[in-house]
Amino acid sequence: MRYLTFALTKGRLAKKTMELLSEIGISCEEILDKDSRKLIFVNEELKLKFFLAKGPDVPTYVEYGAADIGVVGKDTILEEGRKVHEVCDLRFGKCRMCVCGPESAKELLKHRELIRVATKYPNIAKDYFYNKKHQTVEIIKLNGSIELAPLVGLSEVIVDIVETGSTLKENGLMVLEDVCPLSARMIVNPVSMRMENERIKELLTKLRTILQEG
Ligand code: PRP
Repeated sequence: MRYLTFALTKGRLAKKTMELLSEIGISCEEILDKDSRKLIFVNEELKLKFFLAKGPDVPTYVEYGAADIGVVGKDTILEEGRKVHEVCDLRFGKCRMCVCGPESAKELLKHRELIRVATKYPNIAKDYFYNKKHQTVEIIKLNGSIELAPLVGLSEVIVDIVETGSTLKENGLMVLEDVCPLSARMIVNPVSMRMENERIKELLTKLRTILQEG
C-alpha cells in the first residue's frame, strides 16, 4: 500500500489537527516534539506520512500532489486560490476576515471613496472590494502587524483576521465590515481524491462522525 501524505500547517493548527486525528485512531507523537528538527514523520502501521509547512505553502504541496491531504486555514485557501478540493470544515481555528479601521473610516467606506487598504491577503481584499462591493481601492500588501497601517497613516483601513478582537481594541480600531468566517479546513489533491478514494472516504467518514458528536 502506498503512503497517504498529510501536509499540516506548522504551529497551533498542526497541534489541533493531531488532537483531532488521534480521536479517530491516527497518531504520530513525534510530530509535535518542538526540539526535533525532523521534517517528515511516518506512521508505518497505518502507512501515513506527515510533514509540517508554512500555511501558504500547504495548498501548493496539495495541488502538486506532494501531499494528498492538507490542513490549513480558510483564509489561506482563499488567498492562494490553488486547485484543491476543500472536503471538511474542521471547526477549530475559528475567526473572521474583516475590514477594520478607526471609526472615522466608516464614512469613507459608505461613500466608496478611493481609500488605501493594507492587508496580508491582497487577493481576498481585491475580491471583496472589487467583486462584492464594486469599490475601487488601492491595496497595499503587508506581512504582519497589519493593525499598524492605519495607526501610522499608511492606509485608511485594513483587511485582516479578527479572533478575540483584542488587538483591534487595544489599538483604538474596530470591525467596520465582515468579509467572511474562517476556520481550519481539510483539502485534498484532486487526483488523490480519485486514486485513493476509499482510504480518503473512510477518513472523512470517521472525521465527520466525531465532528458531529463534538
Ligand atoms: C492575527 C491577526 C491580528 C490578530 C487578531 O495576527 O492578523 O493581528 O491575530 O487576533 P485577536 O482578534 O485575537 O486580537 P497574528 O498574531 O497571527 O500575527 P501577524 O500580526 O504577524 O499577522
